[in-house]
Amino acid sequence: DDSIEKFRPVYHFTPEEAWMNDPNGMFFYEDEYHLFYQHYPDSTIWGPMHWGHAVSKDLVNWEHLPIAIEPDSLGYIFSGSAVVDLENTSGFGSKENPPIVAIYTYHDPVGERNGEIDFQTQGIAYSLDKGRTWTKYEGNPVLKNPGIKDFRDPKVSLQKDDAGNPIWVMTLAVADHIEFFSSEDLIHWKKSGEFGKGIGAHGGVWECPDLILMKTPSGEDKYVLLVSINPGGPQKGSATQYFIGNFNNGTFTPDDTMIRWMDYGPDNYAGVTWSNIPSSQNRTLMIGWMSNWLYANQVPTEKWRSAMTIPRELSLFDIDGTLLLKSVPAEELAKLEQGWYEFSESSNLPGIAVELKAELKDQDEFSIKISNELGEQIIISKEFGLVSIDRSQSGISNFNSDFATIHSAPMSWKAEKIQIFLDAHSVELFVNEGELVMTSNVFPNSPWKKVELSENLKNAKLFPLEK
Ligand code: FRU
Repeated sequence: DDSIEKFRPVYHFTPEEAWMNDPNGMFFYEDEYHLFYQHYPDSTIWGPMHWGHAVSKDLVNWEHLPIAIEPDSLGYIFSGSAVVDLENTSGFGSKENPPIVAIYTYHDPVGERNGEIDFQTQGIAYSLDKGRTWTKYEGNPVLKNPGIKDFRDPKVSLQKDDAGNPIWVMTLAVADHIEFFSSEDLIHWKKSGEFGKGIGAHGGVWECPDLILMKTPSGEDKYVLLVSINPGGPQKGSATQYFIGNFNNGTFTPDDTMIRWMDYGPDNYAGVTWSNIPSSQNRTLMIGWMSNWLYANQVPTEKWRSAMTIPRELSLFDIDGTLLLKSVPAEELAKLEQGWYEFSESSNLPGIAVELKAELKDQDEFSIKISNELGEQIIISKEFGLVSIDRSQSGISNFNSDFATIHSAPMSWKAEKIQIFLDAHSVELFVNEGELVMTSNVFPNSPWKKVELSENLKNAKLFPLEK
């Protein structure tokens, strides 16, 4: 039925049916990118969480696989991560067939209902068959709750201790701060530090962190700590902030206390990075959940709910001496481009899946209008140092009073390059190759038909996208 599939994206990842939220457990192994996700298979509304699963060879074409991890007597399976244990430190496999170990939060609904506070713990499971089947560790939970209600979303990465030896580090969201734990075998965990009380944005609970080693433009090592927060994002509801600093002695020290956002739009949440990307690829890849807890359970799709953002590559850049994080579309997305054509001022759109590029010449102001025959529109602009996506008249919005609005973000430096990805219910804006990013859901009653540019935009190109 067409109306049921109306908002099904062409190239964004969605579950075949039912509910999805956060991306989980992403790792790369033997030519496959794995993507797990928070999933409730019995409804399009959030409920008892499972880990759904898909694999891809190119980050563009995804193969759906059976549910990977199901709830058990310890609780629902909340967000977490997975690592390839190449040295078999856990002993679950062998060096010849290294175990893949998933580390996730158990959320015990019984404890929650009974008003207890220790109902979130961390558990592990392993796979010896390239992520197809998972065995839960019989000693779960591996990290008990110390008496704090929000204690979740373990992101494990391999780091070096101060003697230079490899060590597993778990980055965990604990209510209003992050706690770090370390382990030699992924089973026994010891707290090594904490960060974040009184630093950064605190308009909501901290969730889904990630600790990432990156290079500065001058080649120096820096750690980036992603911290999703809900509510309290810059556009209301959910968003992901980040800190830049160092990681020593098992804890994170920020370079400064500036508040920074990875994506200034309303619809990029709980994004984390892939583990085990071969060093020859030399890139940091992340994907986010393209929704917002403000209205995620109400958006007007019928058979499934939620999509992921396009996969993105993260890197650091420097603007007037300040380090910031930028994100560009993963290069594999270029595979979707079915040629391109140049246009000026205005053009019809070739379909619901389109990429648009344009350059801004002298001024630092522009505007792009995307519309359909019903008079519905999205306006993307920069004016007075603010980059905005106006979705106030973009179509269906009656499901939530916060939806139909204008989202803006400050950009004090000049906008020069604009790149936009449109799909059935989304728009993703990358200014200056990802120096400023905004991701937004839109639900037009009829597909977008036309694009119009302000005259200072030059070299405009349209790329029809197809899988
Ligand atoms: C973030 C989150 C996580 C939690 C999961 C539950 O969106 O709230 O903190 O693990 O979703 O589905």
